[in-house]
Amino acid sequence: MPQPFEATLEYARSQDQIDILHSFRERFLIPQHNDKNSVYFCGNSLGLQSSAVKYLMNAELDDWAKYGVEGHFEAKSPWFSYHQQFAAPLAKIVGAKKEEVVAMNTLTVNLHLLLLSFYRPKNGRYKIIMEAGAFPSDQYAIETQVRMYGYDPNEAIIEISPRTGAHTIEDEDILKAIADAGDSLAVVLFGGVNYYTGQLFDMKAITEAAHTVGAYCGFDLAHAVGNVPLQLHDWQVDFACWCSYKYLNSGPGAVGGAYVHELHGNNPDTFRLAGWWGNDEQNRFKMQKGFVPANGAASWQMSNAPVFNMVAHRASLDLFDKATLPALREKSIRMTAYMEYLLAQLSHLSFTIITPKDPAKRGAQLSLLFANRGREVFDALTANGVIADWREPNVIRIAPVPMYNNFEDCYRFFEILNEIK
Ligand SMILES: Cc1ncc(COP(=O)(O)O)c(C=O)c1O
Repeated sequence: MPQPFEATLEYARSQDQIDILHSFRERFLIPQHNDKNSVYFCGNSLGLQSSAVKYLMNAELDDWAKYGVEGHFEAKSPWFSYHQQFAAPLAKIVGAKKEEVVAMNTLTVNLHLLLLSFYRPKNGRYKIIMEAGAFPSDQYAIETQVRMYGYDPNEAIIEISPRTGAHTIEDEDILKAIADAGDSLAVVLFGGVNYYTGQLFDMKAITEAAHTVGAYCGFDLAHAVGNVPLQLHDWQVDFACWCSYKYLNSGPGAVGGAYVHELHGNNPDTFRLAGWWGNDEQNRFKMQKGFVPANGAASWQMSNAPVFNMVAHRASLDLFDKATLPALREKSIRMTAYMEYLLAQLSHLSFTIITPKDPAKRGAQLSLLFANRGREVFDALTANGVIADWREPNVIRIAPVPMYNNFEDCYRFFEILNEIK
């Protein structure tokens, strides 16, 4: 049984001493504040750089210098097949088969490409269900997809909101909206974890409900991937996409990822926009007419792999393989609960945590909604070496990330907040 928490530095340090993942922190470059490690709680926005990245980047630069174009086949990790090394670790992270995942493009681009395959309105089936307050890029993507087919977004997009006075969405309201939309529903597109509140949705139940009415179901996993356990294949999710610069620590604008269930990915009749890199590898260089899709999600690729953009991804996935997701999740649940406990000791600031209390309904992130002085508190945190995230109009998001944050970070955050009068 875990012991009850204590709001002391000694206690926080004792938790770090028994943390089996504590050594992973040493592999990351933590931004400095007054020559000390900052409290970096912004891994839900941009994860930290691991020290292996520079070495691996230099190795690619050396191979380019040494081989020129021959590097496609002669480099230590040949560029021709560079993307293939990501399939196995990504499959583990999202709970899929290797053939169902691919590292390519960026998140919003992948969302559009997947919607082009799965949102194909016809015969009165044209509606899309999404969460109200989804990340704006998703809202824009869906709005323009709907317009492309001549529909009015106000009519074709059904947004599910929290109930009056609530901040998070009830599972039952999502399932009911799907059932109510019935055979007018083409696609359900939800975030796995909502970027603002940190709410983790029941992806299995949402997928089942979508399939019951004959709709496809996809997820934007930006805030879920590398953060919470995922079983996309077993949940029968049709498609998903994510970015790798948050919990996957792959650097600003790093290559994104996509998942397509094998039922669709291995079906050559599934519509996909084509490019040569998605073509069957055996025929890729024959330069012939007629697109023959490769097997699986890889066939959604268009261009050859942006190798330099993928180097940090490689370093990061290697660490995920070593740390393992179950161990990361276990630490994450306990560390976020500790942060929540510490925040509950503070009574001089007026904020509410709008992230669900139930660990099964959240990942690492806690979102603090301030009744007043939110921006002032955020600025004071920043001035004292905390890197957190401000979201208009009045939310501070913090994410104790199990890969490199520790219990002492949580305590220091609490201490700094406590000093803000
Ligand atoms: C939930 C969510 N969706 C989409 C995006 C947009 O990502 P990108 O700029 O990689 O397309 C973000 C970016 O932070 C996000 O958090």
